[in-house]
Amino acid sequence: MNRSFAILLALFLILGTALPPAAAEDAVSSATVNITALPELKENQSAASLVIFFSTDDTVKAVAYTIAEALASDVFEIVPEAPYTEADLAYYTNCRADQEQNDRSARPALAVWPESLDQYDTVFIGYPIWHGQAPKILYTLLEGVDLSGKTIVPFCTSASSGAGSSARNLQALTGETAVWLDVKRIDNGSTDADIRAWALSLNLVKGEGTMQMKINGIPVAVAWENNDAVAALREIAGDGLTIQMSMYGGFEQVGPIGQRLPSSDRQTGTSAGDIVLYSGDQLVVFYGSNSWAYTRLGRITDQTPEQLRDLLGSGDVTIILTMD
Ligand SMILES: Cc1cc2nc3c(=O)[nH]c(=O)nc-3n(C[C@H](O)[C@H](O)[C@H](O)COP(=O)(O)O)c2cc1C
Repeated sequence: MNRSFAILLALFLILGTALPPAAAEDAVSSATVNITALPELKENQSAASLVIFFSTDDTVKAVAYTIAEALASDVFEIVPEAPYTEADLAYYTNCRADQEQNDRSARPALAVWPESLDQYDTVFIGYPIWHGQAPKILYTLLEGVDLSGKTIVPFCTSASSGAGSSARNLQALTGETAVWLDVKRIDNGSTDADIRAWALSLNLVKGEGTMQMKINGIPVAVAWENNDAVAALREIAGDGLTIQMSMYGGFEQVGPIGQRLPSSDRQTGTSAGDIVLYSGDQLVVFYGSNSWAYTRLGRITDQTPEQLRDLLGSGDVTIILTMD
């Protein structure tokens, strides 16, 4: 299922009735809950993470759905009660958004509130940078929900500015027991694969050790996917797995895992660092690029394309997978 279809489907899954925080009750009397699950990923299990985002021009929204797809998270879009028109967003014209960002007390109302955040251990919070800060509607939200004890992962996009103090100022609105990770500004040139690799590299999937990979004895950092194939690979790696790889095609190393893993192949464009399952029982690690039907397994995150070519492109290698 492509992303735009998934988004459409998710938007149609508007569930239940609103239970807004008391302070906001008046403003949201007609609200409905719109925490949505990505249906193809949920399979009736409850997500441990939630991606909350605000986006007026779909940049943050695209990132939010990429994170949600990678981690099988639920999604909650912050929808303003008064939608922002194009004129409202024409910044540096003293437009509505400019005025709100200048006004310490501005708290634009939400059209809908999340029913309950209880089930989530991790909450991603995504926003565009507006005049160096998060839009004030994020303040409205954070003052109205309880994030105690949760891990918060702030992320943002912007035309060019850094994240600055935006996340620190949001953190000040939540209780001390909320654990905030460093804010991630998503570069404008980031690909879906970059965003997935970052989200997965946070290793927020609980209750599992970390799978370690060595190439010719050299440890490499891997952001593993969160899917059945990787779960099965972890099982095998528990006893230690050695794979004799062979160079192929001038862009990859391929080798037998010795068992079939549950695959969910789809046409995939790969680049240096990607690790995939091919044909159900072959591990492939790329130092160049290709396009074929694969199941993604992970991505090497601590090597440049040049380092990967040195490591993988000058002779067959041995890969060893172990669990921490
Ligand atoms: C009111 C307003 C203020 C903005 N201020 C900044 C800024 O200070 N620095 C910057 O790099 N981009 C700024 N931008 C651009 C947005 O941060 C950028 O386009 C962002 O990626 C939009 O995300 P969205 O498409 O999800 O709404 C501003 C945009 C608006 C509407």
